[in-house]
Amino acid sequence: MASIIPVASFDCVVFGATGDLTTRKLLPALFYRFQDGQIPETSRIIGASRTEIGVAEFRERARDAIKRFVPPQDIRDGALDGFIAHLDYVAVDGAGDDGWEALAAKLAERPDLVRPYYLATSPDLYGSICRNLARHGLIGEKSRVVLEKPIGKDLKSARAINDAVGEVFPEEQIFRIDHYLGKETVQNLLALRFANTIFDRLWTADVIDHVQITVAETVGVEGRAGYYDKSGALRDMLQNHLLQLLCLTAMESPLNLDANAVRDEKLKVLRALKPITAHDVQQVTVRGQYTAGAVGGKPVEGYLTELDAASRTETFVAMKVEVQSWRWAGVPFYLRTGKRMPQKLSEIVVQFRASPFSIFPGEAFGREPNRLVIRLQPQEGIKLEVMTKDPGPGGMRLRPTNLDISFEETFKQRYPDAYERLLMDVVRGNATLFMRRDEVEAAWAWADGVLGAWADRPETPRPYPAGTWGPTAAIALIERDGRTWHEELR
Ligand code: BG6
Repeated sequence: MASIIPVASFDCVVFGATGDLTTRKLLPALFYRFQDGQIPETSRIIGASRTEIGVAEFRERARDAIKRFVPPQDIRDGALDGFIAHLDYVAVDGAGDDGWEALAAKLAERPDLVRPYYLATSPDLYGSICRNLARHGLIGEKSRVVLEKPIGKDLKSARAINDAVGEVFPEEQIFRIDHYLGKETVQNLLALRFANTIFDRLWTADVIDHVQITVAETVGVEGRAGYYDKSGALRDMLQNHLLQLLCLTAMESPLNLDANAVRDEKLKVLRALKPITAHDVQQVTVRGQYTAGAVGGKPVEGYLTELDAASRTETFVAMKVEVQSWRWAGVPFYLRTGKRMPQKLSEIVVQFRASPFSIFPGEAFGREPNRLVIRLQPQEGIKLEVMTKDPGPGGMRLRPTNLDISFEETFKQRYPDAYERLLMDVVRGNATLFMRRDEVEAAWAWADGVLGAWADRPETPRPYPAGTWGPTAAIALIERDGRTWHEELR
């Protein structure tokens, strides 16, 4: 059993309290933490949104959300009632004046508590909510603001958001969430790399051939077409989640686990990304858009039908990225992410170089390179593919075998959702797993180059049938280099 260290008492104000993120992720995550005894009895979770409902109605909605998004077997007797009693609600207009006095009055009841403000709203409101918080004297030393993505749609808009929030909150009190950093296996990547000498010594261009990062989803745009069509896979997934995974894979050892030590190292990786320009964008990137097909045996519509409009937005992107540094010179990072893929699968594959020479008979034997597969989902775990001897007499035959650790089976406990960890880190004031302003802006500066290069090209995204691994051009992208995507249907 993991030990649970209670956090300090807090008043957490969730703006966007009736929205999708709060319902699907934040309330269930807080419920789990409460049920596990991590949230002190004196804490409150105060929902805030424009919707004119009372506390009773908010509590009912929260109860429904938890019943919907937490499996019934995980809800212990009495825990739901206990949790609901900690919820409060104020109708507040983030962009206007209404409701702020009531919120201020509520918070004034307990001025000394840690006070996270979670902005689960549209980013257009971040600036005005922060200004209102300042105007009503609601920001103190123990306040923190949590920003959900997207933080902008390009460098310019990201800077505008960061400036507006930065006018009232010092950087140490700003927590920019990338929920991938809260996934257990992502943190395990740090453990794997920096707590094991065997991997650290091998983490170099001499030994590693290339790295693949895949984040595949089976879902389509799920009623979020309005947001998604203005965004696309590059902005929605690659600029943040995949680049963060790349940073943790490629960064040098930080001096320690302090927020700035880790973020300094990630920033160096982002700054070392080779810019993609109009000159090479066609060779190193592939955009796709799903058409009608079948996922998990069920027929699904194409993106344009769901959207009911014409669109050049990509629902899939694959690219070859280079990190221009001493350690990584000549080691490509192949990234791909898409909606409506055959399975939900996120993994980082570190492929080592093939052995230089085979002493075994037959060319096919002994040359299969080792691979380290770090699985984020499903079945979080780590697998090292090694060559072994086929058992039995009859000569020396080799075959690849896996050293396989499934975390759930090994530790026999539920794997918490990323938001559980991240929310408690906010209360603790630990920003190691959150993005600093300069990181977000460096990631946008690089992504802007790709977006600009695409905008200059006449091509539209290539179609791929829902339920496939993207357009065939994505396969060609890696095969041109004599490599293949790691595909292993489970
Ligand atoms: C979000 C994206 O950040 O991550 C969504 O906006 C995507 O489009 C989601 O579906 C994927 O998260 P997870 O944790 O389900 O892999």
